[in-house]
Amino acid sequence: MHPTLSIAIKAARRAGQIINRASLDIGQLKITTKQQNDFVTEVDKAAEAAIIDTLRETYPKHAILAEETGASGQQDSEFQWIIDPLDGTTNFIHGFPQYAVSIALAHKGVLTQAVVYDPTNNELFTATKGAGAYLNDKRIRVSKRNKLEESLIGTGFPYRMFEHVDAYLAIFKEMTKRTAGVRRPGAASLDLAYVACGRLDGFWEFGLSPWDMAAGALLITEAGGLVGDLSGEPNYLVTGNIVGGTPKVFSQILQVVAAHRTSALAA
Ligand code: IPD
Ligand code: CA
Ligand code: CA
Repeated sequence: MHPTLSIAIKAARRAGQIINRASLDIGQLKITTKQQNDFVTEVDKAAEAAIIDTLRETYPKHAILAEETGASGQQDSEFQWIIDPLDGTTNFIHGFPQYAVSIALAHKGVLTQAVVYDPTNNELFTATKGAGAYLNDKRIRVSKRNKLEESLIGTGFPYRMFEHVDAYLAIFKEMTKRTAGVRRPGAASLDLAYVACGRLDGFWEFGLSPWDMAAGALLITEAGGLVGDLSGEPNYLVTGNIVGGTPKVFSQILQVVAAHRTSALAA
C-alpha cells in the first residue's frame, strides 16, 4: 500500500471514532447553522482537527483544503489534501446512519489517493491512482449495467441554492421515468463510493464542493467507471457539478442532463 494512503486511512479511522462516539448521544450535539440548511457540529470540527493532526505528523508541508478550516499548509506544495471530515452532517444530526469521512490527495492537481470511510458500517473505500479501488481490502468495480432503464441512480437534491432547481427537476423527472430507481442517500462522497462498488450504477449532483467529490471520483475511475462535469469533461472539482457511473450509464446520464441544461447552469 502506498504510504500516503495508509496515513490517510489512519486519519479517516480516527475521525470515524470521534463520529461514532458522538453518534451515541446526538441529543447532546451543539449545532451551528453556517447558512440556510448548512449545519456544522463540534463533531465536524473535532474530526477535521484529528485528520489534519494525523496528516501533519508525517506531511507537515503539504497543502490542505478542508471544509471547516479552509486552506492551510504550504499553498505552493505539489501535494494537496482535500478533506471532508463528516460528509452528510444533516443525516448525522438526525441519527440517519448515512455519512462518511472523505480524504483525497492530489499531486500536481491530479487525484492520486482516496479514502471514503463509513464509520457506522465500518466500510473503508480506498483507491490509489493506477492501482484500483477497494472496499475493506476487496477489489471493487463498477457494475456491469449498460442501460439507464435497468440502473439504480443516486443523486443529491438542491437544498440550499435553488437557482437551478427547475433544470434539476426536469432532469429528475426524466430520470425517475427512465431508470430502475433514483436514490438520495445524503452523503455525496458515499454515493460516489457506492457507484464504485456497484451498489449504484450512476450519480449526478449540482453545486458540490471539492471535498464532497475528490475521493469518491477517484474511487469511481479506479473501479472502471467514468466521472465528469456536465459536459463530460474533467472539470467537476471546479464547476461543482458532477456525473459519474459505469461507462455506458455515464454517457446516458450526460444525455439526459444535456437535454435540460440551461445556459445559466455551468458545465
Ligand atoms: C453534503 C452532502 C450532501 C450533498 C450536499 C453536501 P455536508 O455535505 O454531501 O449529500 O447533497 O451538497 O454539502 O455538508 O454534509 O458535508
Ligand atoms: Ca460534504
Ligand atoms: Ca462536511
